[in-house]
Amino acid sequence: MFLAQLSDLHFRSQGTRLYDFIDVNGINAEIVNRVNALAERPDAVIITGDIVNCGRPGEYRLARRILSQLNYPLYMIPGNHDSKAYFLDAFSDLCPLLGHDPENMAYAVDDFPVRLLFIDSSIDGASKGRLSDNTLAWLETMLSGDNKESYVFMHHPPVPFGSAQMDPIACENGKSLLELIDRFPQLTRVFCGHVHRMIATQYRQALICSAPATVHQVPYLHTDTRPLYSLEPGAMMMHNLVPGIGLVTSYHSLAQFAGPWLYDPQISCPGDDC
Ligand SMILES: [Fe+2]
Repeated sequence: MFLAQLSDLHFRSQGTRLYDFIDVNGINAEIVNRVNALAERPDAVIITGDIVNCGRPGEYRLARRILSQLNYPLYMIPGNHDSKAYFLDAFSDLCPLLGHDPENMAYAVDDFPVRLLFIDSSIDGASKGRLSDNTLAWLETMLSGDNKESYVFMHHPPVPFGSAQMDPIACENGKSLLELIDRFPQLTRVFCGHVHRMIATQYRQALICSAPATVHQVPYLHTDTRPLYSLEPGAMMMHNLVPGIGLVTSYHSLAQFAGPWLYDPQISCPGDDC
């Protein structure tokens, strides 16, 4: 199993830039091209929310047009910048497992040696997240059914990461998910987005890790609560299930850079004194 996880694309409507100056639409379209052209192709692409910036139909029209170009199976969940109903309208045919109820988007992917559990932590109109009673009951049912190793994908981190800016808008009842980690040892990963940066911590047997955003990042500051953002280059995470080892997650830059070059020991340490 080899998966690509993108997050927090924040599409705007056609001809509109994010915050008046960031060309999110153009950059995300280029990223789609580059993901499609990966030499080592993932089995699927996952997007952990904030597909658009303002939850508006025009943004979803553009996001749909660009994301429909991805030539991989696509698994998505909404984030706090999404509108549940418009999100489902736009993407239910690209990701049929989303179902038809915008208030209950939760689904399992069982095509791999581990089970992927996708849940919606967003609250329409709010920045912070919350897991509904239905979502928690669904998760409990899935985890009680068998002991297949399972990973949760959601937008909001279920724990505060120590970020003064983002902790107040994490998942407010993430503790309920931690209680499931306590009870179900097969739940070994929680992958999220929202904080626009790769940050990892651990709770018992579970790695809890956020993905970077594709375009704009958020500095990780412990005391500064101002809503800062930057154009530190975007990135995605790649999840590689290595036989005999388990899941290995790596950071894959989406910046333009030179290389790779083939390492040549003759050039690295030539025989003379240079
Ligand atoms: Fe975001």
